[in-house]
Amino acid sequence: MNIKGSTNIVGLIGHPVEHSFSPPMHNAAFDALGMDYAYVAFDVDPQNLKSAIEGANALNVKGFNVTIPHKIEVIQYLDELDEVASLIGAVNTIDFKNLKGYNTDGIGAVRAIEEVSPIKDKNVIVAGAGGASRAISFYLAKFGASSITILNRNVNKAQNLAEDVLKSDLISDVNSDSVSQINGYLANADILVDTTPLGMDPHIDDEPIARAENMHDELVVFDAVYNPNETVLLKEAIKAGAKPVYGIKMLLYQGAESFKIWTGQDAPVDVMEKALNDYLGR
Ligand SMILES: NC(=O)c1ccc[n+]([C@@H]2O[C@H](COP(=O)([O-])OP(=O)(O)OC[C@H]3O[C@@H](n4cnc5c(N)ncnc54)[C@H](OP(=O)(O)O)[C@@H]3O)[C@@H](O)[C@H]2O)c1
Repeated sequence: MNIKGSTNIVGLIGHPVEHSFSPPMHNAAFDALGMDYAYVAFDVDPQNLKSAIEGANALNVKGFNVTIPHKIEVIQYLDELDEVASLIGAVNTIDFKNLKGYNTDGIGAVRAIEEVSPIKDKNVIVAGAGGASRAISFYLAKFGASSITILNRNVNKAQNLAEDVLKSDLISDVNSDSVSQINGYLANADILVDTTPLGMDPHIDDEPIARAENMHDELVVFDAVYNPNETVLLKEAIKAGAKPVYGIKMLLYQGAESFKIWTGQDAPVDVMEKALNDYLGR
C-alpha cells in the first residue's frame, strides 16, 4: 500500500475493532485494482460516536463500515437511510457523499445463498431473531422469498421480528415459532438460514439446530457462523446431501457491497475472498 497526499480514506468504526477482517479484505481489493484508497479501523467509544461521524465527515473520509455497538445508534447522525436499512433499523455502511446509511449484512447473506439457489418463491426457515436474523430476514423478503418462518429460543422475539417483516409489505407469509420445533418445518423448507452462534469456535461441538436425518437433499443450508468454516450444522447438511452455504461468504459479500457503495466499482470478489482466507490461515 502506498499512502499519498491524495489517498481516499475508508474504514470501520466499532468498539472493539482490532480483530476485524475488513481491513485486510478491503486493502487487498484496493491494491489489486490499483485504487488510491486505504481502509483503517477506528475504535470509537460509544460516547464519542457523534463526534466521530462529524469529524470523519469534516476530514473528507469517503465511507465507513459500522459494527457493534454502533449499528443502531449511528442512524441519528445520518442524513438519509437506504429503504431496507430503514426497515431493518440498523446500518453497517455509511457513504459520506450524502451521509447515507445502508445495511449490507443482509445483502451479503442473500448473495451467498443465491450462489447456490435463487431465493424467489422459496420457503425459508430463519433460526435466531437477533441482529443478523433481522438484517437477513428483510432481504429474504426483498429478494422474493415465498414464506419466511422465524424460529427462536425466545419466541416473543421471533414473533416481533415476524410482525415487523410482515408490516414491510415485501412479503405476505411470515410466521414464528420456537426453534425447538424446527424438525416439523424442515420437510417443507427450501432454505434453512441459521443465525444463532451455535457451533462457533470454541464451541464447535454444540448440538446444531438440526441433524441430517431431518434434512432433505434439496435443502440449502446457510450458517452465519464463519469460524470454523465447516460448522457442525454444515457437516450435518453435507451428510444429508443438502447444499451448504458458508458464513464466510456473507462476510465477503457484505464487504463487496460496501466497496461498490463507496467507490462505484464492482469489487474484486476473488481477491477479497483470498485475503479473508489468508487472514484466517485457511
Ligand atoms: N457471516 C457474517 O458475516 C456474520 C455477520 C453477522 C453475524 N454473524 C454471526 O451470526 C451470529 C448471530 O449474530 P447476531 O448479531 O444476530 O447475534 P444476536 O443479536 O446476539 O442474536 C443471537 C440469536 O441467536 C440465538 N441464540 C443464542 N444462543 C443460542 C443457543 N444456545 N441456542 C439457541 N439459540 C441461541 C438468540 O436467541 P434468544 O433471542 O433466545 O437469546 C438470538 O436469537 C453470530 O454467530 C455471528 O458471529 C455472522
